[in-house]
Amino acid sequence: MADVEEQLFPRRKERFEDRRHEQDHRKLLDEFFDHATLVAISRLMTQGQFDQLDYPISTGKEGGVFRASSGENFRAVKVYRIGNAVFKRLPAYALEALKREASTSNYGRLVTGWTRREHSVLLRLYEAGVRCPQPYGYLRNVLVMDFVGNEGLPAPRLQTIALDDPQAVHDDLVIQVRRMVKKARLVHGDLSPYNVLFCDGRPVVIDVAQSIEAEHPQARALLERDVANFVKYFQKLGVTTSTESFLAAVGPISLGPKGD
Ligand SMILES: Nc1ncnc2c1ncn2[C@@H]1O[C@H](COP(=O)(O)OP(=O)(O)O)[C@@H](O)[C@H]1O
Ligand SMILES: [Mg+2]
Repeated sequence: MADVEEQLFPRRKERFEDRRHEQDHRKLLDEFFDHATLVAISRLMTQGQFDQLDYPISTGKEGGVFRASSGENFRAVKVYRIGNAVFKRLPAYALEALKREASTSNYGRLVTGWTRREHSVLLRLYEAGVRCPQPYGYLRNVLVMDFVGNEGLPAPRLQTIALDDPQAVHDDLVIQVRRMVKKARLVHGDLSPYNVLFCDGRPVVIDVAQSIEAEHPQARALLERDVANFVKYFQKLGVTTSTESFLAAVGPISLGPKGD
């Protein structure tokens, strides 16, 4: 019966599909782009940060990352959703720090504080020579940064690819962590193969908003957890490593309030 219907009305199904796509698209737009977010995007465009949003690279509960074009170049635009989704998964220490920093518990303002944080952490890491996207600008819940990818295609996450030379990537990450902790004096706090992209044969660190100061009482525990995530991943790929040896390769680090 369905076949006959398709023969008689070949475009009917297509139109239905079109409508469904349109609905999905609209839902996505409504969820991300409330009025104030659209205003922020348009201001950033007026500032010359980018000319247009091209397509979503990733969308989740907490927000989305879009590819954008700026003349011949590409940018990545991260849009945080206004709501409490961002903060639900956040550990208490990070939320406390944010509330103090933003001196508010209002979600809208907290999201702005969170976006500012991602921007300033990226800048600190970038200036310390960590391989991460260079941040350009932010407004409200929208952050503009370097697009990590090749020929317009976004780089994959470490988690999703097969590495030719896992040892080299491991050793490179030791260097990135060393710069992060010793030069930028920050501990990422959510470092794992999910938050590392792989571009031109090298790891690129992303998703940095929850980073904490090296002086924070929980800095050592978080660094050990970050490193343990990598170690588990590299061990599966046959690299001989451990949390201790990774940290030893990073070198002596003073962490925590007394710099122990
Ligand atoms: N600068 C970037 N360039 C290219 N792709 C990016 C960039 N930043 C993020 N992405 C993509 O978007 C995904 C989500 O970004 P991320 O910062 O990890 O946010 P979250 O995990 O909070 O959703 C990443 O896994 C990656 O695929
Ligand atoms: Mg992430």
